[in-house]
Amino acid sequence: MFLFDQEENREKIEEFIAFMDKNREMDGALLPVLQEAQNKFGYIPEEIVELISSHMQILTSTIYGVATFYSQFSFVPRGKYSISVCMGTACYVKGATDILEEFSKVLGIGLGETTPDRKFSIVETRCVGLCSDAPVVMINNQVYTHFKRADVDHILSILG
Ligand code: FES
Repeated sequence: MFLFDQEENREKIEEFIAFMDKNREMDGALLPVLQEAQNKFGYIPEEIVELISSHMQILTSTIYGVATFYSQFSFVPRGKYSISVCMGTACYVKGATDILEEFSKVLGIGLGETTPDRKFSIVETRCVGLCSDAPVVMINNQVYTHFKRADVDHILSILG
């Protein structure tokens, strides 16, 4: 469980409230508000979901419903290295699920989770447009093509 320190984030929270105030009348304000939360805090803590709910009069279930629809939003802090496995059709056909499973097994976390030391997270992404070089894995901004299950150990030891 990751704890969100409200005291440490006081200034950011105030800026975030100001952002909500500025945008609350706008149609579809929830999406930019969620984007702002993700950018500002690096993820969307439960406390921030509750703050959005009370401040913008939106049910928390609606907020979670919208946020879970978009893979860019995360409810846990992302790790220093965000491992993003492409699950588009070409990558899927060429074994993306095996790669995902291997990362998961070696790191001991599931999809959408972060290791307790906050070093690695695993996420999935849709097609990144490199289908002829499938399967594709991205780690932060670094792209790895023709990725194999056997590459998992090697790549983690380099980052490690
Ligand atoms: S499906 Fe993975 S790059 Fe297109």
